[in-house]
Amino acid sequence: MKVSVSKAALNSHALEAVGFFVPKSSKEKIATSLNALAGVVATGLNGDFKANEGDLLTLYPQKENFNPKRVIILGVGQKFTLDAVRKCAATLATKIREMKLTKVGIDLTEIGAIATEIQEEESYVAQAVVEGFELGLYDYNKLKTDRVQALKDKKHKKEPAFEFKELVLITVADSLKAVESGAKVGEVVGSAQSMVRDLINSPSNYMTATDLANAAKASGKKYGYKVTVFDKKKIQQLKMGGLLGVNLGSVEPPTFSVLDYTPSGKAKATIALVGKGVTFDTGGISIKPSENMGDMKSDMSGAADVIGAVEIAARLKLPIRVIGFIPATDNKPSGTAQNPGDVLTTYSGITVEVDNTDAEGRLILADALTYAKEEYAPDAIIDLATLTGACVIALGYQAAGLFTNNDELAEKLSKAGIRSGEKVWRMPLWDDYDKQIKSEVADVKNTGGRGAGAITAAKFLEKFIGDHKAWAHLDIAGPSFPAMGSSGAKGSSGFGVRLLAEVLRNWN
Ligand code: BES
Ligand code: MN
Ligand code: ZN
Repeated sequence: MKVSVSKAALNSHALEAVGFFVPKSSKEKIATSLNALAGVVATGLNGDFKANEGDLLTLYPQKENFNPKRVIILGVGQKFTLDAVRKCAATLATKIREMKLTKVGIDLTEIGAIATEIQEEESYVAQAVVEGFELGLYDYNKLKTDRVQALKDKKHKKEPAFEFKELVLITVADSLKAVESGAKVGEVVGSAQSMVRDLINSPSNYMTATDLANAAKASGKKYGYKVTVFDKKKIQQLKMGGLLGVNLGSVEPPTFSVLDYTPSGKAKATIALVGKGVTFDTGGISIKPSENMGDMKSDMSGAADVIGAVEIAARLKLPIRVIGFIPATDNKPSGTAQNPGDVLTTYSGITVEVDNTDAEGRLILADALTYAKEEYAPDAIIDLATLTGACVIALGYQAAGLFTNNDELAEKLSKAGIRSGEKVWRMPLWDDYDKQIKSEVADVKNTGGRGAGAITAAKFLEKFIGDHKAWAHLDIAGPSFPAMGSSGAKGSSGFGVRLLAEVLRNWN
């Protein structure tokens, strides 16, 4: 998608449609001015159109000198927030995709007033608009063909795939620079998020550990950062016992990818991002029930987020070093699989009793966390993982669980969560929970019983960062794939990409 910014008068744009944000409070005012400008009938706007969040109404201009073919008004709800703006833009884009329009504008002539109301910079508003538009356009259709129809009907012609071409942000001279810079960031973040959603939505037969490593390599090649992939032999040499243990049941070899973006100048900081890359989680010998098991193709969401975040750092040339670590494997039962009760020796040397083979994410993360800390001495380590069903029970699909030993990092992530619309909620890491993961036979056990499942998982991970003082764990099991039991967008949300982008962009 191309994004352009213009300060030319709205009526002069040859567009298939132009979108307007309409908050409840200024519904009448906007109706009147739109009527004067475009000659769209305002009665619907005053009556039927309530301007609730998600409301959309398509109107057809009557004025001859008004060039856009359609006026689409979008309900903002009670008041402007970055999230409301993003959602509005997404609603518009989804409609545009349905209507198969390819060149569309959004009216941002009032961006100054919107930014003042939200108390944010104008660039953030423009960024949210572009991100939202990209989100709303997104559709996973790679694996759809028209073969059913073609077999029935020899004359059937394949419809050309819909491709949106250009989004025009229409603003005023004073705001041009801010809109341009925000749009640029929005484009980078939005397209990275779409790439990440594609990786996550890919079924497991299209997304093995090798495929995931290749996706990282492809991103590194395209955007100029270094990607190193360890194969099974190298992983064995490194004695990454957690990753190897989970991989025992599999015929697909594991991979461990290191994505390294180093800025050209002196780096202000080094940030390690660690992502859970379980390409399919059957549970292993502690097998999961079959209902909705297919959703477990999304168990590499954390890994995909990490690829997206390093890609964004590279594309925006951020002044920090960002290193991604992706341990990847599937989790399968077989004659060679690990059994419950088995004891593994992780990369750190810490021994783990595998009480339940379905608590596999923490086993592969254990190796990656220690490796990141010991080999790179990063200033901060952030891991992302679809780690526990318990976190979904606690926070639902709306927020990720945040666990950290560092208040400053907590503040950074919480703030970024609000701005990006990918919210996190802090949970405790009190040592009281340690007794739940004590093992009779090893240093630690990979389950902690029914109570506080998300917390005991985090306490487990904490063992593997040793004395590191700035570690955060994000349990994204709920928001990353919200189709599981919730309404709204189907499949992957790409949750985490915008959050990480915001944290990295503001690192200091
Ligand atoms: N990948 C799952 C967690 C998950 C559950 C993600 C639902 C998304 C939606 C994870 O590997 C898992 O199976 N966790 C177990 C841990 C338990 C065995 C201690 C769980 O949450 O049930
Ligand atoms: Mn599992
Ligand atoms: Zn899992």
